[in-house]
Amino acid sequence: MAMAQPQRPTPAVDVAPLFWYDGAMVEQSDFEIHPFTHALHYGSGVFEGIRAYEAGRRLSIFRLKDHMERFLRSAEVYRLKVPYSAAELCDAAARTVRENAIGECYIRPLTWFGAGGLSLAPYSHAPTHVMVAVRPLAGYFSGNADRPTVRLTVSPWRKSSSKSLPSTVKCSGHYANSVLAMSDALSRGFDEALMLNEFGRVAEGSGDNVFFVKGGVLYTNDADEDILPGITRGTVLALAARLAIPTTVAPFALEDLLAAEEVFITGTAAEVAGVRAIDDHEFPHGAKAPVTTRLQQAYDEAVHAKGPEAAQWCTLL
Ligand SMILES: Cc1ncc(COP(=O)(O)O)c(C=O)c1O
Repeated sequence: MAMAQPQRPTPAVDVAPLFWYDGAMVEQSDFEIHPFTHALHYGSGVFEGIRAYEAGRRLSIFRLKDHMERFLRSAEVYRLKVPYSAAELCDAAARTVRENAIGECYIRPLTWFGAGGLSLAPYSHAPTHVMVAVRPLAGYFSGNADRPTVRLTVSPWRKSSSKSLPSTVKCSGHYANSVLAMSDALSRGFDEALMLNEFGRVAEGSGDNVFFVKGGVLYTNDADEDILPGITRGTVLALAARLAIPTTVAPFALEDLLAAEEVFITGTAAEVAGVRAIDDHEFPHGAKAPVTTRLQQAYDEAVHAKGPEAAQWCTLL
């Protein structure tokens, strides 16, 4: 008797049809993954998340070179030999955005170990692949208005220690930690997980960095606290300097956040999102937090290539 063919679920992902794969543009429908792809089994890939925004009649990719440089630094840690320079990868991303012509979008470069042997040292036997794909992405925290305000919950999952998995490296496998934390937060009705590190201090969200404001001073932590030091975090620190907002970069505890006047989170996907509550603790300003709002406005200008840093940060297509 012939075996019934399993029904393939319709992909929920709205990926643009063309992507850049190992140096050429390919159709999504022509792309196949070998069942013994090393990265599929062991998470041995690294990636980036980048956004392209409308800038007048053009599109502008935000901090493209910084993302591609971080991509190559991440790859090196896992001995993924990417045979392209940062400039070539920037061109690949620009081309993928242009050829798909979907307007504002999210850009995902990924490099990974393909099919080879089974050894856990893939650099010795598995080929390296590189791709850049794009897809539409509006607000990351869906269901919120223009200025999302997010409800965080303290995650029962601690942020993995950099002694085990270096937090500055954007490796696919590291994200199992974030998947556990975000899945728990969502299942309990929150928008995002707040992850503490092994010492019980605040690390970061499942996919974003954490800031707070107290007495007019802006606070955030750094890589010593097991965070991915986000490019958005760096952007916000630079904008705060331009706006003469005093800033302190230092470790902090959950108690510091709960005593704060304003809390917000930052990330390429999350952008600058105000935090409305952490578990049952509500912040007084809600969506009208003054320092958060100033930084959100400056960030909006920057990503749309309207700020004074446009020449430095924006790749216009
Ligand atoms: C764990 C984690 N922290 C922070 C960030 C923010 O990084 P970026 O601002 O570079 O997008 C991200 C997003 O990539 C992330 O996944």
